[in-house]
Amino acid sequence: MAAAKNARLPNASVPWRLWQAARGLEGSHITLPDADLRGKWIVITGGNNGIGREAALQFASWGASIVLGCRQPPPHEKHPDITVADCIAAAQAAGHESSKIEWWSCDMTDLSSVETFAKRWLSTGRTLDILANNAGIGRTPRGKLTKTKDGFEIVHQVNFLAHVYLTMNLLPSLALAEDPRIVCTTSCMQYFGTFNLSNANTTAGPSSYSHNKLYFQTWLTELQSQLSSTHTMNHVTINGIHPGFVKTGIWIPPHVAAEAKSLNPLDRLLNMLVGVFGVDPQQGSLAIVRAATAKECATTKMGGEGGGRYFNRIWPAEPMPQTTSPACRQLIWDFVDRELHLKEKGLLDVFDSECSIG
Ligand SMILES: NC(=O)c1ccc[n+]([C@@H]2O[C@H](COP(=O)([O-])OP(=O)(O)OC[C@H]3O[C@@H](n4cnc5c(N)ncnc54)[C@H](OP(=O)(O)O)[C@@H]3O)[C@@H](O)[C@H]2O)c1
Repeated sequence: MAAAKNARLPNASVPWRLWQAARGLEGSHITLPDADLRGKWIVITGGNNGIGREAALQFASWGASIVLGCRQPPPHEKHPDITVADCIAAAQAAGHESSKIEWWSCDMTDLSSVETFAKRWLSTGRTLDILANNAGIGRTPRGKLTKTKDGFEIVHQVNFLAHVYLTMNLLPSLALAEDPRIVCTTSCMQYFGTFNLSNANTTAGPSSYSHNKLYFQTWLTELQSQLSSTHTMNHVTINGIHPGFVKTGIWIPPHVAAEAKSLNPLDRLLNMLVGVFGVDPQQGSLAIVRAATAKECATTKMGGEGGGRYFNRIWPAEPMPQTTSPACRQLIWDFVDRELHLKEKGLLDVFDSECSIG
């Protein structure tokens, strides 16, 4: 994208961005009312660890059946088998003996793995009630520009593109649900992002994380708008959430933290700040849980206050201006279509074939 074209796109002032990002540090203790998820199916990516694991435990204790979408994790990470066993124990402790909890392979660095996961889901004929797009990595391995086997920058693919692909593949199953919810774990780091799609596959380091969280929040806002203009999917809700500043491995992967002597000064500082100011993963998970279950988070069609929003933990917050810009939304929509060949694969047919009612 040419710089001149970018100049016409909306942007936010630095003080406003800093203020919004600082609000992401909000650390109050949250409790949520119980929800009844008996008979509902949930797919959650990155469900074996961190806030995804805690969300899965909560969903299980409320009676949901769950598929955790996980990669075969590196040895230093918690194996999905352990989280499956813990979720089954949580379900049983709450009296939900018939819940099904499984983990299926879904490696976000490999789009064929995502597609296989989605096909496997669709072949079950199950209705999908909640999709939590949560898996993520905080940094490029070894700080160097790293491409996946699909040819995309790794943070771009894991944190954004693979979730777009998963979502678009699973939409037909979501559409069958009564009150379907898609929750995307974006981040307050979007406020440090730059909307310049020419950087999508060329940036390594922390800025790639911020750019892609901004792209994700912008894309999901457009998806909500597109869904709302269909007859068959206008009941589907999608929102983005920031879980808080949470003590998880996203900041400094556990194997790096364990060798604390090898941390560079910036990582040392980050480690200290997360330890002092961060909330625990259970608290972080409640942002996902609330967006997935609270009535007010649903689209107006479903009696809520509208989808396509951004929540700082459980509070509605103002996302970056690109999310409300038709030009930016069209740019990101078209960009991912080109990267993932969505149209060619028929994954946009529902938007093309249905008459607009909006
Ligand atoms: N922690 C925070 O303060 C914070 C703030 C804002 C947003 N977030 C977002 O929250 C989400 C969850 O992160 P977290 O804080 O819970 O960190 P985490 O504990 O590191 O969890 C990340 C999850 O993503 C999974 N994952 C990583 N690469 C994957 C891949 N290639 N395929 C499939 N799964 C993969 C991890 O699986 P493995 O166990 O295999 O690594 C893990 O389950 C991320 O999207 C993150 O950007 C976190």
